[in-house]
Amino acid sequence: MLKIEDLFVEIEGTRILNHINLHIGKNERHVIFGPNGAGKSSLLMTIMGYPRYKVVQGRILFKDMDITHLSLDERAKMGIGMMHQRPPTIKGLTLMKLMEVFGKEKTAQEASEKLKLNSLLNRDINCNFSGGEIKRSELFQLFIQNPDLFMLDEPESGVDLGNVEVMGNFVNELLEENLKIKHRKRSALIITHTGFILRYVTADKGYVMVNGSLIGMGNPLQILKEIEKHGFDRCAECLI
Ligand SMILES: Nc1ncnc2c1ncn2[C@@H]1O[C@H](COP(=O)(O)OP(=O)(O)O)[C@@H](O)[C@H]1O
Ligand SMILES: [Mg+2]
Repeated sequence: MLKIEDLFVEIEGTRILNHINLHIGKNERHVIFGPNGAGKSSLLMTIMGYPRYKVVQGRILFKDMDITHLSLDERAKMGIGMMHQRPPTIKGLTLMKLMEVFGKEKTAQEASEKLKLNSLLNRDINCNFSGGEIKRSELFQLFIQNPDLFMLDEPESGVDLGNVEVMGNFVNELLEENLKIKHRKRSALIITHTGFILRYVTADKGYVMVNGSLIGMGNPLQILKEIEKHGFDRCAECLI
């Protein structure tokens, strides 16, 4: 689904990602842990194609096609979707309007109920939404977009545990948890600081990102335990 080869990225002349290699197969879920400022969001923004993030070396392949120089909308149409950590307010556009544009008024109604968004459907997107409402609205937009690769940037940050459960269950639906494994086709790249989302969503591989580099790979729950025990600083030692 996604292959990143020796990727180096700069933003406004500052190097923020070094030597990133990542390979996410069909129906695989990978998780990245890491301290604030490590470069986690930058990696997702680069994969999504935000133009400020300049690839200075390496390439990104999606469904075997080199997308390193494709625009954000082309990548979205190919099936890459992202739940942003800090999405903007979009004046004049409502979730209801998005449902209409995508022709999903009927199917999205059920999703909106599950995500407890009904009272927000006719408000400008993210305008005075609470932290938790913004997160659930982002997941709802992913439901409408229906991508093959789901990138979730700290889905649980600022969300109370009850709502993390609502979101976790919804993410499992998006990732076709109800289908037999051999029929599932969707993949995910999830960034988490606290690991709470992993109480609900199972993941295959975990990494730690420090200073713009991925420094270790292993079982996500095991990595989380080590981080809880030793902190991020010493995690490089405990993993390698
Ligand atoms: N426009 C920018 N110019 C320079 N540095 C930036 C810019 N945007 C982000 N950065 C830096 O890139 C680093 C990685 O940020 P980010 O990807 O948001 O980290 P994380 O998501 O892991 O907390 C941070 O040190 C941040 O200050
Ligand atoms: Mg971030």
